[in-house]
Formats: sequence, structure tokens, C-alpha cells
Amino acid sequence: MVNISVLVSGGGTNLQALIDKIQGGELEGARIVQVIASREGVYALERAAKAGIKGKVVKETGRLLQELAEAETDLVVLAGYMKVLEPAVIDAYRKRIINIHPSLIPKYCGKGFYGKRVHQAVLDGGESVSGATVHFVDEGVDTGEIILQREVPVKPGDTADTLAARVLETEHVILAEGIKKVMAELPEKEGGNQWAE
Ligand code: GRF
Repeated sequence: MVNISVLVSGGGTNLQALIDKIQGGELEGARIVQVIASREGVYALERAAKAGIKGKVVKETGRLLQELAEAETDLVVLAGYMKVLEPAVIDAYRKRIINIHPSLIPKYCGKGFYGKRVHQAVLDGGESVSGATVHFVDEGVDTGEIILQREVPVKPGDTADTLAARVLETEHVILAEGIKKVMAELPEKEGGNQWAE
């Protein structure tokens, strides 16, 4: 079984999509062992509680590493996590931390590109296509190796809100697909095949 720790900072619709897919049997061999928020009062923690998943707020890197280790985390998933992870975390979970970003990286990503700003920049850029990207997390912001991308059309009359909503629907689909791809490449755990219960 692959133990996933999900890191969040907001409403948690990507977290909810993952919870629903795991409960629906669409992500076999994976379980969410905890949800870690970067700040108090985010709705993602309520979603975790409703699903019976441990949730906590962690702000310090040392404690984050401790919580990840204690939960025997195999894969760290950033789902709307707004903090930049310290190198110590990247090193400890190299190629086992993934993020979802609401644009077609390398376009409209990096420092300052988050939330509605991304979609407004896509519109200001006159793009006819946008999309979402699942990628590994390295020491840079949105610079890690791309795992999976999916295009989303920009429609006439789109606002940052309408485009964000359309891209989010796609995010909810490709995050689980990206996790499946990474799970297929994760090395076996001690003592045999990790997928067997
Ligand atoms: C998503 O658009 C994600 O790509 C970005 O932050 C947003 C979070 O949405 N990093 P939610 O909290 O999962 O609803």
C-alpha cells in the first residue's frame, strides 16, 4: 500500500477529488494517511475530517519531516499548497513529491503565479488553450520534471473565474492519473511488493 500525505493551504477540491477516487476504488494500492495544512482554518481540513482522515496544521520544516516520517509517507502530494518546501524536505523525498499547477508549464508558472493570477495571465496573453500540469517538486517553483499535462480550451468571454473553474475540473482528473503513473515507478518497499495488502 502506498501511503500518501496530502499538503494543502485552501479549499481542498483536489484533495476531495482524490478522496472520492480512492473511496470509489479508482486508485488501488493508495491510501491518504494524513492531510497537513500550512495554516489554520482551511476548508480542506474539514474535508479530511469528514472522510475520517487525520488532519493537522504544520508550519515548521522540522515538524513537517517528523510528521511525514511518523506516518510512513511514501508519496507527498501538494494539492493547493502555497508554501515553498525547504531543501531538507525535497532531499528526504526526492522524486516522491508531486504538485498540481493550473497551467501548461512552462507557461504561466513560477513565483507569483498562483490562484486567479494564473488564469488572468493566460487571458491577458491571448491564449486559446490553457490546462493543468502534474509535476515532481524540486528546489525551484514549478520547475520539477513534468509527469502529466492536459489541455483545456479558453472560450470567448472567459473570465479568470470561468477559466479557473474549467481548469479545476481537469485538475481533479489528472492529479489521480499522475499519482498512478508515479506509483507505477516507485521502488518496491522492504520485504516484497508494495501493492499487496
Ligand atoms: C488549484 O488550482 C491548484 O492547481 C493550485 O491551487 C488550487 C487549489 O485548489 N495549486 P483546491 O484547494 O484543491 O480547491
